[in-house]
Amino acid sequence: MSAHIMVFDSGIGGTTVLEHIKQSIPNAQYSYFMDNALLPYGAQSQKTIINRLCSLIHFIKANTLNVDLIVIACNTASTSALSAVRQMTDIPIVGVVPAIKPAAELTRSNHIGLLATPATVASSYTKTLITEHARNVTVNLYSSVELVTLAEQYFFTESLDTNKLHQVLDELHIDKTIDVLVLGCTHFPILAEPISQYFEGNVKLLDSGVAIANRVNYLLNQLNLCVNKLTDIKKPLQYYATADVFSNKLAVKLVTLTDPSQYVEH
Ligand code: SIN
Repeated sequence: MSAHIMVFDSGIGGTTVLEHIKQSIPNAQYSYFMDNALLPYGAQSQKTIINRLCSLIHFIKANTLNVDLIVIACNTASTSALSAVRQMTDIPIVGVVPAIKPAAELTRSNHIGLLATPATVASSYTKTLITEHARNVTVNLYSSVELVTLAEQYFFTESLDTNKLHQVLDELHIDKTIDVLVLGCTHFPILAEPISQYFEGNVKLLDSGVAIANRVNYLLNQLNLCVNKLTDIKKPLQYYATADVFSNKLAVKLVTLTDPSQYVEH
């Protein structure tokens, strides 16, 4: 049997990470879970996010989904709730956090930016990442929830309100001496091309997709989960969502996440 990898996000952003993992590990089974009833996570409290992730673990157990590995493909959820949720389950969990370390190694101007949600920018996890990996680099922090909404619209409608995107970026007043911008939200790579055009190609955009795919590959090997058997029959990717998705792009199974007070944690 192939390994079953579940990729989780508040919305569609985690598909940018899923694509990298699928390229690296084509023979695994995949499911994608979006908690779009609570989108955007970047505007939620840390307590709410922790509760939702605990409810996700409960959902996986209650429905015996036989998940071998979970990827929390959401910077907001990972920086807020990774350690809490790891305490709830033995299933290995890979979090996605802003690519501060590679950005600090890549910069030539010693000046980088982090573009993420308000919750990610405010998290102590992000502050620690910067202190540990970008000590000698100036890091400017920029936050936006509107970019999450724009990325969702772009994904589903395939049309982008470029004026709105430029307006949002203008209002962030991103420093011109930055040469690397970390896309610290998995929704933002959906907008990578138009964002790069906004900077006229003068800023390198960095996300964590490839690093996460490498990490998942490494863990599956460590755990001895066979993913390279070409004879395995693959089930189609199952999409779960907590709210309606008004698009025929994805066949989604609508599910409810139970409030953590409704069940007893082990
Ligand atoms: C959001 O739901 O606000 C975005 C998720 C992320 O930080 O990747």
